[in-house]
Amino acid sequence: MAAKGLGRAVIFLGPPGAGKGTQARQIAEAYGVPHLSTGDMFREHVSRGTPLGLRAKPIMERGELVPDDLVLSMVEDRISRPDSVGGFILDGFPRTIPQAEALDEILRKRFKTDPSVVHFVVDKNQLMRRLTGRRTCGIGGEIYNIYDHPPKVPGRCDRDGGELIQRPDEREDVIAGRLAAYERQTRPLVDYYRRQGVLKDVDGMAAPEAVTKNVLELLAQKK
Ligand code: AP5
Ligand code: MG
Repeated sequence: MAAKGLGRAVIFLGPPGAGKGTQARQIAEAYGVPHLSTGDMFREHVSRGTPLGLRAKPIMERGELVPDDLVLSMVEDRISRPDSVGGFILDGFPRTIPQAEALDEILRKRFKTDPSVVHFVVDKNQLMRRLTGRRTCGIGGEIYNIYDHPPKVPGRCDRDGGELIQRPDEREDVIAGRLAAYERQTRPLVDYYRRQGVLKDVDGMAAPEAVTKNVLELLAQKK
């Protein structure tokens, strides 16, 4: 699975559980570019107990969005690093119209090419099953699902033997809040990017390997 020269920002857009993280890991590896997940960045701040983590923790536990200014300064800082010059995959960002407008501004300065937006389309009734069944490796971040993609040894990562953990925002009531936040604050971005002519839909209901193949094909197409 070799791919060369991403050369732009790629935005993965879709509801919680759509498979953004699963696919971003594969696509970032195929292109050799960073996978920038704002959720993972916040979870790292929370586990390190930084001031940003302390502010984000209760908000994330309620399934709400962290305020735009906090997200934006974190992202801007991250994409200023040298490893981002050849492009990157944004997973879970932007999530509000103000975040998207701020990102447009940053990208205009940094890249000559428009971003590509991949919109993962998944039936709503699948999302709860995917999220309650998800388990994530505490070492390398590999993503499993106890129903559809279980590890060979229960509770242990196939790759590095790390303990598989459940995220604190994986309770059913919190998931319902996250899905509602998506509908209210993030879904409007589908129209925002469609109007710009940079968005492509991907069938997120297909098997993970088929989704990866489709995303690689979309990104290789001329826009
Ligand atoms: P974040 O970490 O971004 O979570 P999310 O958007 O809710 O998305 P998930 O990570 O839950 O789902 P995913 O699409 O990555 O699916 P995955 O690949 O894991 O955000 C968490 C919180 O941080 C937010 O609630 C907010 O508080 C804060 N935050 C983050 N970014 C922010 C921002 N920009 N602004 C403000 N606040 C922000 O897959 C899910 C499951 O499905 C897995 O078990 C997987 O194995 C399975 N699966 C994946 N693909 C398939 C497939 N094709 N078929 C079958 N099963 C599949
Ligand atoms: Mg994710």
